[in-house]
Amino acid sequence: MSSAYPIRTQPITLRQLKFFAQKLSALFEPGDTLLLEGGLGAGKTTFVQFIAGNLEIGNDQYVSSPSFSLLHEYSGTLQVFHMDLYRLTDEDDVEAAGLLDYLEHHGLCLIEWPERLGTEKPDNYLLIEINIPDSEHRTLTLTACGPSWKKRHSKLISIVDQMNQQIA
Ligand SMILES: Nc1ncnc2c1ncn2[C@@H]1O[C@H](COP(=O)(O)OP(=O)(O)O)[C@@H](O)[C@H]1O
Ligand SMILES: [Mg+2]
Repeated sequence: MSSAYPIRTQPITLRQLKFFAQKLSALFEPGDTLLLEGGLGAGKTTFVQFIAGNLEIGNDQYVSSPSFSLLHEYSGTLQVFHMDLYRLTDEDDVEAAGLLDYLEHHGLCLIEWPERLGTEKPDNYLLIEINIPDSEHRTLTLTACGPSWKKRHSKLISIVDQMNQQIA
């Protein structure tokens, strides 16, 4: 599995990000975790909203930033746990907030500001780092951590290729 090197996209538009979210959603398995890194305004919450749009989450469940509540839970084809750890400092804080239990789930866990997890990161996750080359574009760097995502590495490469070919 040494082939699981980070996959870097070219600068992508919002439209391409939506396409990517759609293709990625088709790869999800129960128990998956995505760690979403990137500064304020990078597009982490936007990406979660795009993912939610593929999981039959009803319109009554509005997907927004959980910054003030730390955790939002949605039910669709998978149970979705959306965390935003921005206001926390470290893993002790995450534990004190009662969030560690949610890392062992059978749904889909999407975590903004996962840096705050410190040593409490799960064994298997897909790390998505979002960078901002300009106001309209983002680059994604995908790193498959643990066997569960490493086995999907070639599929990740394939969807990034498809996305790069999408008209911006
Ligand atoms: N290519 C792009 N990908 C993602 N977001 C983009 C892109 N271009 C512009 N944006 C805008 O950037 C903002 C990202 O905000 P948000 O998702 O709340 O960021 P974060 O949760 O990382 O703080 C949104 O207003 C979104 O429309
Ligand atoms: Mg956010």
